[in-house]
Amino acid sequence: MKRTKVIDALQVLPQRGSGEGAMICVKGWVRSKRDSKGIFFIALNDGSTIKNIQIVGDDAKFPEETVKRITTGACLCVEGKLVESPAAGQTSEIQATAIEILGDCDNTYPLQKKGASWEYLRTVAHLRPRTNTFGAILRIRHNMAMAIHTYFHEHGYFYFHTPLITASDCEGAGNMFQVTTKNLYDLKKDEQGKILYNDDFFGEQTSLTVSGQLEGELGATALGAIYTFGPTFRAENSNTPRHLAEFWMIEPEVAFLDQEELMDLEEDFIKYCVRWALDNCKDDLEFLNKMIDKSLIERLEGVLKETFVRLPYTEGINILQEAVKNGKKFEFPCNWGDDLASEHERYLVEEHFKKPVIMTDYPRSFKSFYMKQNEETSDGGSVGYKGAVAPGPTMQGTDVLFPSIGEIIGGSVREESYDKLLAEVERREMDLTHLTWYLDTRKYGSCPHAGFGLGFERLILFVTGMQNIRDVIPFPRTPGNAQF
Ligand code: 4AD
Ligand code: MG
Repeated sequence: MKRTKVIDALQVLPQRGSGEGAMICVKGWVRSKRDSKGIFFIALNDGSTIKNIQIVGDDAKFPEETVKRITTGACLCVEGKLVESPAAGQTSEIQATAIEILGDCDNTYPLQKKGASWEYLRTVAHLRPRTNTFGAILRIRHNMAMAIHTYFHEHGYFYFHTPLITASDCEGAGNMFQVTTKNLYDLKKDEQGKILYNDDFFGEQTSLTVSGQLEGELGATALGAIYTFGPTFRAENSNTPRHLAEFWMIEPEVAFLDQEELMDLEEDFIKYCVRWALDNCKDDLEFLNKMIDKSLIERLEGVLKETFVRLPYTEGINILQEAVKNGKKFEFPCNWGDDLASEHERYLVEEHFKKPVIMTDYPRSFKSFYMKQNEETSDGGSVGYKGAVAPGPTMQGTDVLFPSIGEIIGGSVREESYDKLLAEVERREMDLTHLTWYLDTRKYGSCPHAGFGLGFERLILFVTGMQNIRDVIPFPRTPGNAQF
C-alpha cells in the first residue's frame, strides 16, 4: 500500500458517524507506547509535522513478539483503518490491521527519557532531530530559508554565488580558517621564517570566507541587486550562546541604495521573515510557545507592529552613559569610540526603547574599511544620519539590534569613492594585492551601493525563542567541537 504522510493522514477525516474510514499505510518512529486492558496505543511521528498520529491495536490480534518490539524509537510500517478518534485533542487515529517493524530500537536509545537537558542533547546531535523540539526548530529553519529566497526573488534580486575559498579577508579581522594541501610537517619558509605558499594548491595563502560581501558587491554593480545565502566561517574564539565557527549568512547587496533605503530594506526584510513564520509554521510555533517560551508568539507579533528605532551611535552612547549615571552597572565601558558589548545593545533594545533598534554612524575605529565615510567637520568630528553630529570620524553602518539577540544584522552603505577607499586601505595598512579587483568597482563606473549581512542562526534564535545558537543548527561547529 502507498505510504501516507502523517501530516496528510491527520487532515483526512473519516466520515463522521460512519465509524468506517479508508485503509491507509503510515511509516514513522515510535514516540511512546502504552497499554491498557489488552489494547496498545502508539504515538507515531514521521517528521512531516509536530503532531503524532495515534495507532490503536488489539494485543490479541498481533504476535506477542511483534508487540514486544514496538519500543520508543523503533521504526514502524503500520496499515490500518483511519477512524474518527474518541480521544480528546486529535481528530483521527488508525486502527492497526498490520504492523511491520522496519527498525528495532533497544533500551540503549539515548532519547528515551523526556526532559533531557540541552547540553545532553548536543552530545547526541545525530539523534536529537527526532525530538519534538528539534523537529519543530528544523522545520522552521527550512521555512525561513524559503521565506528568504521568496522575498528576494519577488523583489527582483538575483541569487549570486560567492566563493567559500578566498584569498581576501572581508572583515579584516584575521579570524580565518586556512585552506591548504601543504604537508604541515614540512613547510617551506623564506629567510624571515614566513611560510611560502607558491607551491600550495592555489599558489597563495587561502582561507574559508568570513563573508561573501566583497564579491557580492561585484554582483550588485553589474546585476543591480543580488543576495547571497551560504555558509561563512569565523575562527573567533567566542564561546558564547550567539557565536558559531560555521554559520549561514544572507547578504543582499544593492546598487543605488542610500542609508535610509538600506534601513527600510533591513526592517521590511526581517518583518517579512517573521510574518512568514507566523503564517507557515503555526503548529511548530504553538508547540515552542507552550514548551519553550510562553511569550514567543506575542513577541513575534509585536515586532510586526513596531517601527524600528533609527539611532546614531553617538546618541546611543549618550543614553548608555545617562543610564550609568543613574546607577546602571555594565561589565564593559561605553565611552565614545568603544565597540558596544551585547549588554549595551540589549540595554538599549530591551530596557530603554523596548523595540528593535537600527544603529547608524559608527566610529571608524572599530568598523570595516569598506564602509562609507561620513563628512568630516573642521574640529575632527563628523556629520551622519539626519545631520547627527559625532565627536570623531564615523562611517555609515546600519546594524540591527534585536531583543534577546543583540546584533542580528550588520550592514552599511559602501564607500564608492576610489580615492577615499584607497586612502582607508592604506591607513589600515591592508595588503593591496588582494584588493585590486575590489577597488576596480570604484574605478570603472563606480556607483553608490549598500548591503547587509543577516546571521541566519540569529534569526532562527529569535523566531524559535531558543537561547543557544548551538541548538538552532543541526550540527554546530564551535571552539573544540566539530563532532558529527
Ligand atoms: O556584522 P558582520 O561581521 O558583517 C559582515 O560580515 C558584513 N560583511 C555583512 C555585509 O554587510 N554583507 O556579520 C553579519 C551578521 C551579524 O550581524 C550576525 O548576525 C552574524 O552575521 N554573525 C554571526 N552569527 C553566528 N556566529 C558568528 N560567529 C557570527 N558572526 C557574525
Ligand atoms: Mg557586525
